[in-house]
Amino acid sequence: MAISPTCQPDITIDDHLDVAHERGLAEDVLDGLTRPFKELPPKHFYDERGCELFDRITELPEYYPTRAERAILEADAEAIVAATGAAELVELGSGTAAKTRVLLDAMAAAETLRRFVPFDVAESVVRASAEALVEEYPGLRVHGVIGDFERHLDRIPPPVPGEPRVVALLGGTIGNFPPGSRRRLLREIAALLGPEDRLLLGTDLVKDSGTLEAAYDDAAGVTAEFNRNVLRVLNRELDADFPLEDFEHVAFFDRRNEWIEMRLRARRACTVRIATLALDVELAAGEEIRTEISAKFTRRRVAEDCAAAGLRLDGWHTDAERRFALSLAAPVAV
Ligand code: SAH
Ligand code: AVI
Repeated sequence: MAISPTCQPDITIDDHLDVAHERGLAEDVLDGLTRPFKELPPKHFYDERGCELFDRITELPEYYPTRAERAILEADAEAIVAATGAAELVELGSGTAAKTRVLLDAMAAAETLRRFVPFDVAESVVRASAEALVEEYPGLRVHGVIGDFERHLDRIPPPVPGEPRVVALLGGTIGNFPPGSRRRLLREIAALLGPEDRLLLGTDLVKDSGTLEAAYDDAAGVTAEFNRNVLRVLNRELDADFPLEDFEHVAFFDRRNEWIEMRLRARRACTVRIATLALDVELAAGEEIRTEISAKFTRRRVAEDCAAAGLRLDGWHTDAERRFALSLAAPVAV
């Protein structure tokens, strides 16, 4: 682990990633691109450019989840903070922590705010948000963790006795995991929680396929660029030669599974060399690589996933149009 020096006494940053290696890029690509149906895990979208593209997505007219979740936080953050008495916020996949400020404001207003722990695989966003937040919230301690929350949850700094903690997974990121891995991640998060701690979970809700598909296939083509960005990451980090212009963005709502799937479809047959892996990947014309699922939820699905992970769904907050939900969940005593 690298403990990175910072000039500010209120900031600590632990870096558990050794560029591509520690977030498992090589293994994921070897595994994913040699399967009968090719696939790449979505965490590799988020290099610096991927984070910027995601930020642009959150501002698109078609991409409602960020606005809907912000509306819930603006309406209910005070109640959420009152219900939890939170002194510390640990945010998994924190990104730029834009909406997080609504929660931090409510914690500051309740005079409980002590520490923020942003945890993200993208180094630049952890550092930038830590620096911005200590300026914005005088007295706040920020302990950033650069890591993969599928591997490094045990590196979250230990809780401070008497300071209840909320672990947040916002934005619908839990939906980017298929059901088995989703429950595994929730179980691992549940294991971090003491009796007074809570999980705050953001989930996008099932709705008409037109709204959903537009959100993942915007008219300006930003989501298409975000999708293709994973190939840029492979080209740069694994010395691959994917011809980006030959891959078409595909997004559709799978009604049976109630999730959005994003894929990249080869416009023509090609053989891609991934030099670092000494691997040639053959793609037929029209062949697709699955790059993301984004599951949509009902209250029942959230409750069942929580129960399977040893959590009890305690609070359910939605926006006025019921597009998105924020859930509070407590660890079930064992
Ligand atoms: N929470 C923010 C950002 C969501 S984008 C919001 O609601 O707007 C998803 C974020 O999760 C990105 O910043 C990405 O880098 C991070 N992420 C994705 N997979 C991750 C993983 N396995 N470990 C840590 N961070 C991850
Ligand atoms: C981060 N995650 C919840 C986003 C989502 O909606 O599944 C990622 C995204 N993919 C395309 N647009 C946004």
